[in-house]
Amino acid sequence: MTQSVLVLPGDGIGPEIVAQAKRVLEHLQQHHGLDVTLEEALVGGAAIDSTGIPLPEETLQKAKCADAVLLGAVGGPKWEALDISIRPEKALLGLRSQLELFANLRPAVLYPQLAEASSLKAELVAGLDILIIRELTGGIYFGQPRGVSEVNGEKVGVNTYVYSESEIRRIAHAGFKAAQKRNKRLCSVDKANVLEVTELWRDVVTEVGKEYPDVELSHMYVDNAAMQLIREPKQFDVIVTGNMFGDILSDAAAMLTGSIGMLPSASLDANGKGMYEPIHGSAPDIAGGGVANPLATILSVAMMLRFSLQRADLAEQVEKAVGVVLDQGYRTADIAAGNESVNTQAMGDAVIAALK
Ligand code: IPM
Ligand code: MG
Repeated sequence: MTQSVLVLPGDGIGPEIVAQAKRVLEHLQQHHGLDVTLEEALVGGAAIDSTGIPLPEETLQKAKCADAVLLGAVGGPKWEALDISIRPEKALLGLRSQLELFANLRPAVLYPQLAEASSLKAELVAGLDILIIRELTGGIYFGQPRGVSEVNGEKVGVNTYVYSESEIRRIAHAGFKAAQKRNKRLCSVDKANVLEVTELWRDVVTEVGKEYPDVELSHMYVDNAAMQLIREPKQFDVIVTGNMFGDILSDAAAMLTGSIGMLPSASLDANGKGMYEPIHGSAPDIAGGGVANPLATILSVAMMLRFSLQRADLAEQVEKAVGVVLDQGYRTADIAAGNESVNTQAMGDAVIAALK
């Protein structure tokens, strides 16, 4: 059955990197029997510029109907002065919650060809392969009440850190299931020594763990987890944590690999539908220059093939092709460590050539 992919290029370098990922999808359509239709829609600042809002109803409806969504990046200085409620980032948060994409998979994998790019010593990161699973539709990002109001003659800001048992349970299951497919170790990160909500988190994860006796469960406070990620990152296999802690720890983990331009992500609902995007942002400083690294977006296509399009075979081929172009010495500026680099299009060409 033909599956449908909605492509949301977004802002900044988004359209440039998505164009290359789209070429990869089209190549797979033409030469490897991938049966998908591709459609595009507006999101983020691009949508604000033409419709006044970051997530137009039409885009949301198309995203709801699609089997998978490929997103470039949103945001940029042009829209920073807007009220927080209509900024480009709101589109991302809206898509995540409206599509119920509660499980965010953020792998941090070090490509041996790029070991020199890490900010840690090579021996600490050689072979690094960890997976952060971030809860994406709850926690302090979405808790009510929220806002800034006037109390006793001064402004007071409030956000609410809230998780229900069922929200914790479903992300815990996602964590254990992912660990079962890897090295069978799951570390749940919380702040149970201070925050009641994460005390509940710890209790529920522990309870769910009884259903997965083959997975070794550990718990870590988030401050310690931040330290351990820098001290000895290879101790981790899968990390499962809440929305805000996951946001912070996944940036730190990405930097261990030295190349945020290489890391894909998947945001999944309970039925295998997903939104796929590179971990990096819209990089307004280089937007329009055609020099951005498209590999994170191309690797996001691989995750899409695996998790939403049931084509693990093609996912492997794409991942292998990325390894091949790195072996061949192709580097975009972000991973070139000052050496010669190729542009976005040339990197796309190289991946497609490696797929042949
Ligand atoms: C991320 C980003 C987003 C987040 C922003 C752009 C809203 O930092 O996907 O990690 O905080 O979730
Ligand atoms: Mg982030």
